Amino acid sequence: MAEPDLFSNPPPSSPEARVRQLRREIRRHDRLYYTEAAPEISDADYDRLFRELESLERQHPQLADPDSPTRRVGGEPIEGFRQIEHPVPMLSIDDVFELKDAPEPAAELIAFYRRLQKRLGREDVAVTVEPKIDGVAVSLMYRGGRLETAATRGDGRTGDDVTHNVRTIRSVPLELPPGAPDTLEVRGEIFMPNAAFAAMNAERDEAGLPTFANPRNATAGTLKQLDPKVVAKRPLAFLAHGLGSYDGPPLETEHDFQRLLERAGIPPNRPVFEAASLDELLECVARLNRDRHDLPYGTDGAVVKVVDRAEREALGFTSRAPRWAAAYKFLPEQKETTLEGITIQVGRTGVLTPVAELTPVLISGSTVARATLHNQDEIDRKQIHIGATVLIEKAGEIIPAIVKVTKPVSGAQTFSLFDHVGGKCPSCGGPISNEEGFVAWRCTNFQCPAQAVTRIAHFASRKALDIDGLGETVAEALVRHGHVTTPLGLFGLDEETLANLNLGSDLEPRRFGEKNARKIIASLQTARGKPLHRWLFAMGIRQLGESAAKELSRLHASLQEVANSPILAELLRDSRADAKKKNPELSKLAITGDVGRAVAESIIAFFGSEAGRRVLDDLAKLGVNPASENFLPVLSEASLADMPLAAKTFVITGTLSMDRDAMKQWIESRGGKVSGSISAKTHYLVAGEGGGTKRDKAESLGVAILDEAGLRALAGEG
Ligand code: IVH
Repeated sequence: MAEPDLFSNPPPSSPEARVRQLRREIRRHDRLYYTEAAPEISDADYDRLFRELESLERQHPQLADPDSPTRRVGGEPIEGFRQIEHPVPMLSIDDVFELKDAPEPAAELIAFYRRLQKRLGREDVAVTVEPKIDGVAVSLMYRGGRLETAATRGDGRTGDDVTHNVRTIRSVPLELPPGAPDTLEVRGEIFMPNAAFAAMNAERDEAGLPTFANPRNATAGTLKQLDPKVVAKRPLAFLAHGLGSYDGPPLETEHDFQRLLERAGIPPNRPVFEAASLDELLECVARLNRDRHDLPYGTDGAVVKVVDRAEREALGFTSRAPRWAAAYKFLPEQKETTLEGITIQVGRTGVLTPVAELTPVLISGSTVARATLHNQDEIDRKQIHIGATVLIEKAGEIIPAIVKVTKPVSGAQTFSLFDHVGGKCPSCGGPISNEEGFVAWRCTNFQCPAQAVTRIAHFASRKALDIDGLGETVAEALVRHGHVTTPLGLFGLDEETLANLNLGSDLEPRRFGEKNARKIIASLQTARGKPLHRWLFAMGIRQLGESAAKELSRLHASLQEVANSPILAELLRDSRADAKKKNPELSKLAITGDVGRAVAESIIAFFGSEAGRRVLDDLAKLGVNPASENFLPVLSEASLADMPLAAKTFVITGTLSMDRDAMKQWIESRGGKVSGSISAKTHYLVAGEGGGTKRDKAESLGVAILDEAGLRALAGEG
C-alpha cells in the first residue's frame, strides 16, 4: 500500500508540494466516496485535510488553481446563460408503460424486447436494466482531463451553459486522473438526494422561505441560478449514464463504458443489472421495482439498454430516440387506508389548505400519514369525507395524493372546509373568504400570525406605510426571533431589540445595527400620521387595492367611518344599478368602479369580525387614528357637478407644466382618475412634449389625446 499517511508522516517541506499533495489526496477521497462508495477516512479527517488546504491557499495566493477542491464554493455570479451546441445530439428515450389492470402488465416491455429480437435476428439479446433517475439531464465535457463545460439538454441540440453551477457539485470531478481520453463527454443526471431534499425543505420552512414541490423542481431551480454561491449551498449530486463525444480506445459493450467511468472517477448510476433473455429481463425489472424505494433518488422507471455497442449501432435511431433503449415506467404504488380526519393549514399568504390525516401506511418505501387535499374543489370532485376508505399513491414517487374514495361512509356528507372551520381562520379566528374565480379560501385578517412575515412586509412596503429598511428579510428575522407576530406589533419594538436583530444564522450572525434600527423607529413614528388610504392599503384587505383605498378615503373621514360605513353596507345590500341611481353616495362609489361589491363584502366581513374589532382596539390603544386627506364631505348631486372630470380615466405622458404627481392631484381633485398604463378603458391621454410610445398606443387603441390646454378646457377651466 503505497499511499503516504497524511496525518503521521512529516508533511513535505515546501508549501507548494504540500498543496499539491493535499489536492491529490482530497480528489482521491472524493473519488472513493462518490464513485466507489468506499470511503477510507472519516468526515472529520476529510474536513481537516480540506481546512489545511484552504489555509495554505490563503497564505500563498500564488498557488491558486481554479480546479482546486476548495473552489467548490462557487465563483462570481454570471449575467445569463450562454448556449452550448451538443457535438452529439442529446436524445430522449421512448417510454413503455406498465399497464394497469391488464392480464400482462409488462406487455409493452415484452413487445420492445421482441422488436429487438426481430431486428437483430437473435433470441437472447443481452440488455442492462438500471434505474431511471428523476433529475435534470446534463452533459459534462472533459478535454485534456479537465472539466471544460457542463450543459443542460435544452432542445437536444443546444442547451444552457451551466458550468459555473456544476463545478460546485462535489461528485463531479473537475480533473480526471492521468491517462484519461483527450475528449470525453459524459452524460448523466443531476439530482437532489431525497434525504438532503427533505432536510433542505425543512430548513427553508423553518426560516420562513418557500419550499420546493419535489427534488426535481429543486434541482432544476437550482441549476437556473445565476449565482454559483447559492448553488454550492444546495445538496446536488451527479450520476453518469451515457456517453457523448469520445476519442479514447474503442468501447465494445456497456461494461467497457462502466469501466471507463470507474477509471475516470466519474460516479456511475447504480445498480446496473444484466439480463440475457426475456425472462431475466422481467425478473430484473421486478427486482428494481421492488428495491427502488431504497435508492437515494426518486425513480419512476427502469432504463433498458442493449449491452453490445455494435448491436446498438445496427439498431440505430428513430428521429427522437435510440431503438436500442427504452424507459419502462412503473405504475405508482397504491394502497388503501382510512381518512381519519382533516386538518387545515394556513400558509404564508393566508391560503387555507386542507390536509388529510390518514391511518399510516407503508407505500413506495416510506410511511404516509398525511396527504394534501389541495382545495374545496378537489374535495368536491372526489367526494372526500372523514371516515372513508381512500386509495392513496405517491405521485412522482414523492408527494402522496388521494386518488379516490373506495369505501364511502354511508350517508356521510362531503367535507366542507368552511363549515369545518366555522367560517374562521384556524390560526387567528379572522374572517375567511373565497374570491370569485379562485378555488382557495383565504384568511383576510392582516394580524394573522400564520401570515406574519408576508403581512408585515406588505404593511411596511413603499405604497403602504413606507417603513424605510423593513423588507421581507427583516420581517422574517423579527418573526423568527419572536419579536413580533403582527404588523401592529411593530409599534412595540424598541431601538435596542432592532439593533441586535440577527439577520443571519447562528453560525454566521449578521447584526441589523443601530443606524438601521433608528431609521425604522423614525419611519414607524411617521407612519402613525400617514393618511387613511395608506392605512387601508397597508391592512392588505383582499380586493382592496390602492385605487379603491383612495376612493374609500374620499368617502370616509376616518378608519372608524370605514369600519361602520353605511355606504358600503348599502352597496352590499343592493348592488343593482337603479339603487346606485337613487343614492348619490353609491353613484359616487360607482364613479370609477374601483369599489365594487367584492371590496365592500371583504371590508365589512373584516371589520365585523372579532379580529377586525381587535385591530380597531389596538389602533386606539396605540393612539393611531388614520384620517382621510381627500375626504369630500358634500355628497349631493350638486357636488358631483363640481367634479367635471368624474368618471373619466386619464393617463399622463411627456413633459407638462407641472410634474407628474402634481398633475395627478390636479386631475383627481376634479374627480378624474389617473392610471399608469393605457388600455381600452382609458378615456384620455394627456400628452406633453415627448411621450412617444404611449402616444402610439393611444392612437392604436383609439384613445383621445389631449394637450394641457385641452385638459383645462375639458375641466371647464379653459
Ligand atoms: S440513458 C439516448 N439512463 O431520461 C439516451 N437516461 O427520457 C440514453 N435518464 O434524457 C439515456 N436516468 O437524461 C439513461 N439511467 C438512465 C437515465 C436516463 C434518467 C434520463 C436521460 C434522458 C431521459 C430520457
